[in-house]
Amino acid sequence: MAGTVTVVVGTQWGDEGKGKLVDLLSKEADLCMRFQGGGNAGHTVVNNYGEFKLHLVPCGIFNANCICVMGTGTVIDPQDLLAEMEAIASKGVSVEQLVISDRAHVVMPYHKLLDKVEDEARGAYRVETTGRGIGPAYTDKVGRIGIRFHDLLHEDILRAKLSAVIKKHNAILTHVYGQQPFDAEELIEAALAWGQQLKPRIVDTMPIVRAALQENKNVLLEGQLSAMKDIDWGSYPFVTSSSPTAAGASAGSGIPPRYINRVIGVAKAYSTQVGTGPMPTELHDEMGAHLRTLGGEFGATTGRPRRIGWFDAVVTRYVTEINGCTDLNITKLDVLDTLAEIPVCTGYRYKGELIEHLPDPVIHEKCEPVYEVLPGWQQSTEQAKTLADLPRNARNYLDRLAELVNVRIHSVGVGPNRDQTLMA
Ligand code: IMP
Repeated sequence: MAGTVTVVVGTQWGDEGKGKLVDLLSKEADLCMRFQGGGNAGHTVVNNYGEFKLHLVPCGIFNANCICVMGTGTVIDPQDLLAEMEAIASKGVSVEQLVISDRAHVVMPYHKLLDKVEDEARGAYRVETTGRGIGPAYTDKVGRIGIRFHDLLHEDILRAKLSAVIKKHNAILTHVYGQQPFDAEELIEAALAWGQQLKPRIVDTMPIVRAALQENKNVLLEGQLSAMKDIDWGSYPFVTSSSPTAAGASAGSGIPPRYINRVIGVAKAYSTQVGTGPMPTELHDEMGAHLRTLGGEFGATTGRPRRIGWFDAVVTRYVTEINGCTDLNITKLDVLDTLAEIPVCTGYRYKGELIEHLPDPVIHEKCEPVYEVLPGWQQSTEQAKTLADLPRNARNYLDRLAELVNVRIHSVGVGPNRDQTLMA
């Protein structure tokens, strides 16, 4: 059978439950790759080995036959990666099959400090980043002063690059932000030690990717966040610094676009967001607090309470269009089990006019949601084994979401465990 190249992307603001789907799909995958982002991700996976909050390591790690790749488009803190690998290994999961693209960029300690002080300095346009150094690492990458994993293996190159870049960052940290400077020698020493620890895994990923495509293997590209936080297509400036889209998957993995034949968008049955940015359906009332508790909506990376809202079909349709989603995975349907009525946002009202597309963030911020209220099912869905087992109103709810978003349903999550995913 010919292999497939599947991309899994978020279709809201991140935290849709992509980890669970990737964990499930990776049982059939030969290669699983993160293609963008870094330790800002927080993919929660519950399986036979226990519960994991993966920040860097691809969810395919639980399948011993699956090669896991930190792709070229990622930015990685080596220390965090080593700690995460150790934590996973301590639960009896092999991390032998994990490799890192030698072209991936290194998140250095100064990136984390810059992330914090730069975000504070943004004032009203504060992004509320995860503080994992993501933005500054990508800034250095685009500014062509980044350190790549390849450099960690070559002291002369590392020394030349780091000595120059640290002068610039120290000047900014001390003069602009009143921080202590970093010691170049200490950084070089630490970076070389990370390189030695990770050496067997730092590889050119192109031969691995090429072989997988030539041999028709199943490839899984694991996205983080969503196009709503995309540097080009998201609610700029309240975005991350990479492209968490199917197009970004191609660029960040080195897999040509024409090989991607399935793009699964993941959407929660309601909405959540961490960080600043427009969110017209946000609930500031008791219902929001109630859903936050029921859904356990606290950031996997930062522990911050997530903002909660009703399902926004305008947002999810926009994101699925940007990605060319072929399938939709709805997660956490069970969180809505007790509700008598469930509003779904079908459009916005702005200055008296009805809008059904995603406007510029400045306008989006001021939009009033237009709701269609659907009847709830007020019965537990957690034991359902197939979509047919779901109460009629739950099925109607799902059908209506699929109709509004215009993508067919691939699967539905009714609980955190692997077997609580109902396939369409
Ligand atoms: P950064 O990626 O840490 O620079 O943060 C940029 C924006 O993306 C902020 O609004 C963060 O809260 C948000 N963000 C980053 N990673 C995640 C994630 O994995 N889930 C949800 N939001 C995230």
